[in-house]
Amino acid sequence: MARPEIEMLRKLREQAIKGDPRAIEKQHARGKLTARERIELLVDPGTFVEFDMFVKHRATEFGMDKRVALGDGVVTGWGLINGRPAVVIAQDFTFMGGSLGEMHAAKIVKAMQYALEAGVPVVFLNDSGGARIQEGVDALKGYGEVFYMNVMASGVVPQIAAIMGPCAGGAVYSPALMDFVIMTRKTSFAFITGPRVVRAVTGEQVDEFSLGGADVHATKSGFAHLVAEDDKHAIELIKSLLSYLPLNCMEDPPIVDTGDDPNREESELDDIVPSDPSKVYDMHRVIELVVDRGTFFEIMPSFAPNAIVGFARMNGRTVGIVANNPAYLGGVLDIDSSDKISRFVRFCDAFNIPIITFVDTPGYLPGVAQEHGGIIRHGAKILYAYSEASVPKITIIVRKAYGGAYIAMGSKHLGADFVVAWPTAEIAVMGPEGAAEIIWRKELEKAATPEERQAMLKKFAEEYRRRIANPYVAASRGYIENVIEPHETRPTIIKALEFLASKRDVKKPRVPKKHGVPPT
Ligand code: HXC
Repeated sequence: MARPEIEMLRKLREQAIKGDPRAIEKQHARGKLTARERIELLVDPGTFVEFDMFVKHRATEFGMDKRVALGDGVVTGWGLINGRPAVVIAQDFTFMGGSLGEMHAAKIVKAMQYALEAGVPVVFLNDSGGARIQEGVDALKGYGEVFYMNVMASGVVPQIAAIMGPCAGGAVYSPALMDFVIMTRKTSFAFITGPRVVRAVTGEQVDEFSLGGADVHATKSGFAHLVAEDDKHAIELIKSLLSYLPLNCMEDPPIVDTGDDPNREESELDDIVPSDPSKVYDMHRVIELVVDRGTFFEIMPSFAPNAIVGFARMNGRTVGIVANNPAYLGGVLDIDSSDKISRFVRFCDAFNIPIITFVDTPGYLPGVAQEHGGIIRHGAKILYAYSEASVPKITIIVRKAYGGAYIAMGSKHLGADFVVAWPTAEIAVMGPEGAAEIIWRKELEKAATPEERQAMLKKFAEEYRRRIANPYVAASRGYIENVIEPHETRPTIIKALEFLASKRDVKKPRVPKKHGVPPT
């Protein structure tokens, strides 16, 4: 027979863990797991240590004195995820819709402080109706403090948000301030103002999902980095993502034995670029052939697919892959792909992840929509991110590297450590056809027929390509370190990575400053 005090503790614990069975049933009926079920799937068995299980809110207005639950609608603590520590925050929708009040927020802030002190990642499972309406300004204060912590943690520890239910109003800004956002396809939505307000203000008719569902955010707004089919899948994605990342900015990412031969040469690469420069191919295949087999983990696959970003392993080391994909819009750089690339480069730099860039882009996208949409300031972000990054930067120019895009995509001139080109590389101020139109304008005017003009243009473009748009001019200046056969790409990158593994930021001593002012 246990002492009464111990009996009481056991009862309280049981009460906190059990929750409200009717609300749990409703949660399951919505196709969602509870906060505790999610944590159980996420952490290694028996490793979760809960914080603040006995915290209660202090509100009394609107009957709040009668609506109290231990934990106040959020479970926080730390545990091991695939053997590595992380702080976990899981909102409990079964208590007042996971709404965020003063004490709920205080628990989140405290958990994040732990993560910062211990230097471990934060995983935040969102499922909440937003600010707890009954708590008024105390709830707003709570949000403010959570956002403040997100910013303090930015670049110090990785932060992953999964949105597994509603995420409305200001609540969206915590995930938005974190590094990666995963949304469940059928059960989550995120928006600043919901369908009813939208209808009232603009007259637009939308439901939650067409306004702010996972697919919308993964393809259109760029807010969601990954879409999960359900809660279980979201948790698998979190685990995979964490496996590539260091615990904090002072550590290197883990090295994993992938069993893939670092000297593997792939002859398929030699023929992957079509001889006709107007033909396209999918850069995913290049990446798959070069990185350790089966290790490419793409981020934002459906947003701005003309650019590819993601993590992979090379000889077991985590690398960040950035590439143009000629299979979409010819691999052009536009507003969205600039945002996608620049943010990913900055993340890799913050967390000591070398950046491997595969270039095949005709340049920045022309057009009124792009110019008026701010391609100048968005495009500038890529320049800023690569210039600022001090991690090893290795660039492979596969084919087109024209104009500003040549400079932006990890060129030597922005501080790349090692740049190589395939023999198919075309490095020039602009594409050969455009260049020929300008250089041979007078000759072209003499053409008697449009057919003759076309034939002349083709001939001049070919001459430009032969004389200027090839890798040997850049190689002769030392702007690229080498021209390699495509099948040599994997061993070449791995050797460079090994050589640069001890790289420290000594190359560019910087003027002391608080921080730069990057384009936004
Ligand atoms: C208090 C809330 C709540 C909230 C939900 N609940 N949201 N309680 N504050 N913000 C309660 C509900 O009253 C209900 O309680 C329980 O949670 C479950 O909610 P349901 O409505 O039954 O669930 P569902 O049908 O799935 O709908 C979920 C929902 C809806 C879409 C989230 O509840 C909703 O629209 N809630 C209000 C959302 C909102 O306007 N939030 C404020 C956003 S403004 P009972 O007792 O009935 O079970 C904001 C400002 C932050 O967040 C600014 C920060 C800068």
